[in-house]
Amino acid sequence: MKEQLAKIKADAVSAFQSATDAAGLEALRVKYLGKKGELTAVLKMMGKLSPEERPVMGQLANDVRAALEGALEDCSKKLEAAALEQRLKDEALDVTIPGKQAVIGHQHPMNIALEEMKDIFIGMGFTVMDGPEVELAELNFDRLNAEEGHPSRDWSDTFYFDTDSRVMLRSQTSPMQVRAMDTMPLPIRIVAPGRVYRKDEVDATHSPMFHQVEGMVIDKGVTMADLKGTLNAVAEKLFGEGTVTRFRPHHFPFTEPSCEMDIQCHKCGGAGCPTCKGEGWIELLGAGMVHPRVLEMSGIDPEVYSGWAFGIGLERTALRRFKIDDLRLIFENDVRFLEQF
Ligand code: PHE
Repeated sequence: MKEQLAKIKADAVSAFQSATDAAGLEALRVKYLGKKGELTAVLKMMGKLSPEERPVMGQLANDVRAALEGALEDCSKKLEAAALEQRLKDEALDVTIPGKQAVIGHQHPMNIALEEMKDIFIGMGFTVMDGPEVELAELNFDRLNAEEGHPSRDWSDTFYFDTDSRVMLRSQTSPMQVRAMDTMPLPIRIVAPGRVYRKDEVDATHSPMFHQVEGMVIDKGVTMADLKGTLNAVAEKLFGEGTVTRFRPHHFPFTEPSCEMDIQCHKCGGAGCPTCKGEGWIELLGAGMVHPRVLEMSGIDPEVYSGWAFGIGLERTALRRFKIDDLRLIFENDVRFLEQF
């Protein structure tokens, strides 16, 4: 039995030392020290010993058990330390590797054009106003002197939300004129940029959603000369000194007289080329003197006050400003395109 114990001890210690991981070591613990293990099997035979031998063997068996447990503990610690070492090695972070460059975007060309425009008007004493894209037809049409039956009210042109045509996506920023007159004290000097919606098919110059910047001035003694002077100054600031403009008579229900302002084509200087479709001029905005009836509907006495208003197409301005020839590029948001501005 003595020899058996000595052999178990030698075998077990060498086995423990050759274990390569915690699971292997645990299996060896069960093999040698477990309830059905080799050491227990020997202890079970103690009963067969003589009373003199029993305490001696008992003592020896206990010593062997203590030695095995000690060796097991040592091996387990060694394996843990090795595992930790390996983990530290695996998870090591090389702080000297260069980082990934973060891609920083920039403003969309439409936003650049809008910010420029706002700056120009703020510099002239205008206030920037914001308003809803879902608008009442009353403000988009009636209060702007476009009564029932006006062609622009047609279902084929306008996005309505209801069957009785009361709520709609605004088709122009002009209802902001009414909102300004309804909420602001006189004199009024506002610009109101925002999205507008019309049932247009997408092509190089059309989109069912686009942006306008509305402008309005109401004060005593305001004339068409102020309108022309202001818009000429804005055109020069936007498109460069010496930009030539032209005012053509036009019709809008809410202005009288009404006009459209063109700028001379920067490419051909007015001779006519593909950029201006042979016209020599590029249409930029609609404008006019606020119709007396529109003033009256907002409770402003047209005998005392007069005003003018304009609506600039923002896409059109951005296209001119950045010499882009297709409106769709503005909305597709291809970074290869956007990166150029
Ligand atoms: N709202 C007009 C349009 O969308 C433009 C305009 C605004 C005309 C203000 C006159 C005055 O075409």
